[in-house]
Amino acid sequence: MLGKVVLLGMDLMEKIISLCKRRGFIFPSSEIYGGVEALFDYGPLGTLLKENIKGKWLKKFVYQKENVVLIDGTVLMHPKVWEASGHLKHFSDPLIECKKCHFRYRADYIIGGRYKGQGKATKENQCPNCGSENWTEPRQFNLMFKTFLGPVEDKTHQTYLRPETAQSMFTNFKLVQESMRLKVPFGIAQIGRSFRNEITTGNFTFRTREFDIAEIEYFVKPGEDEKWFNVWLEDWENFFLNLGIKKENLRRYEHPKESLAHYSKRTVDIEYKFPFGWSELAGVANRTDFDLAQHSKYSGQDLRYFDDEKNEKYFPYVIEPTLGIERLLLAILIDAFQEVKGGRTKTTKATKEVEILLKLDKKIAPIKAAVLPLVRNKPELVKKAKEVLKSLLPYFSVQYDELGSIGRRYRRQDEISTPYAITIDFKTLEDNTVTIRNRDTMQQERVKIENLKTKINQLLNE
Ligand code: GAP
Repeated sequence: MLGKVVLLGMDLMEKIISLCKRRGFIFPSSEIYGGVEALFDYGPLGTLLKENIKGKWLKKFVYQKENVVLIDGTVLMHPKVWEASGHLKHFSDPLIECKKCHFRYRADYIIGGRYKGQGKATKENQCPNCGSENWTEPRQFNLMFKTFLGPVEDKTHQTYLRPETAQSMFTNFKLVQESMRLKVPFGIAQIGRSFRNEITTGNFTFRTREFDIAEIEYFVKPGEDEKWFNVWLEDWENFFLNLGIKKENLRRYEHPKESLAHYSKRTVDIEYKFPFGWSELAGVANRTDFDLAQHSKYSGQDLRYFDDEKNEKYFPYVIEPTLGIERLLLAILIDAFQEVKGGRTKTTKATKEVEILLKLDKKIAPIKAAVLPLVRNKPELVKKAKEVLKSLLPYFSVQYDELGSIGRRYRRQDEISTPYAITIDFKTLEDNTVTIRNRDTMQQERVKIENLKTKINQLLNE
């Protein structure tokens, strides 16, 4: 590599946001109307990346586990669910208002606590907008979005958009366990849309009002919960490491008793070193038998599990590894982002140029290979390149690019993390071979077109 990897400064977030927009990863929602705070759309590459991340989660935690099953519950549920779960009473953040400019914030972001200073506040207790220190008393603000079932907008028809996916795994506990004849320990897993009317937003997609949660409710014998907690915590951490996140950018945060959610006996967050500070990436909670016991009480249905070995009924305890997919996607982008001053190759003309290399794990890279005819004004080359493209499309996400110099096209692919670039050149026309350029080493090797699919497959699985 010619250039030097630049040490990343505080403007890293700006660079990531710009790359995401420019290269079709993430856009502000409704951008033509000026965007909406804390809502983002995923563009073509962002959507592929997100699907690949979900795919990895599904593979590791559902397909490869004999005792974890997947469900797909509704976003809207019976309003009683939220009473029973405690969300109506407890799912709130302390809200304070600046008496001078009337901007509102989460009190714990301004007045101390774990995330002190994570928002835009420059000095403790000062309003980030006007600098005043004159605040209202904190009041609890419920984060659930309200809506109505049917055309009548009154209290009896009011319900909420789910703020977590967990609840449908509890309300379906009996149906899933009996229909699938599962024995504890077993897990129910789900990935789905969740909604939170967050007070303080910002930091791009870190805290949004609509996002996907991937979580597992793992039902265990009471008394075995602490053992299973540790098993899941380790598994959970390894998942992030296997996705290529650097070990030094991850750490555990053990919640003190006073910051535990109303349902939790123990929660450990896995934090990532975001450019704006260490912050929660994912978590593991011991939800005890709280949810099943509450739903039994509120629904009048007996949700206890019958243990045929012990010949007794009990509420299993629940270990819950949870994760926001978009938050993980952001951490992955940050972790993979590199700038190379002076360019990566000798052929770079403008040596002062900074080139971007997005070094995602190749298994989750949105595009696996780019097909590039050396020049676009030679119809034989273009025809051959189109044939190669067509032969690979059924197997991989492949992109075709013929615009600009070959060096420029390699750089375009480096920016979006494409692990392999396949070039069709004049030798191809003679002997039916192409070059494969490796994103990370920039080494090239010649491969026969007939072996290309097998070769790419091999390389991706190395
Ligand atoms: N069922 C447990 C639960 O929902 P949580 O810590 O409130 O736990 C789960 O949320 C995960 O969802 C978090 O670890 C985080 O990754 C993600 N998350 C939470 N709030 C978010 C938001 N406003 N925007 C994006 N991701 C969020």
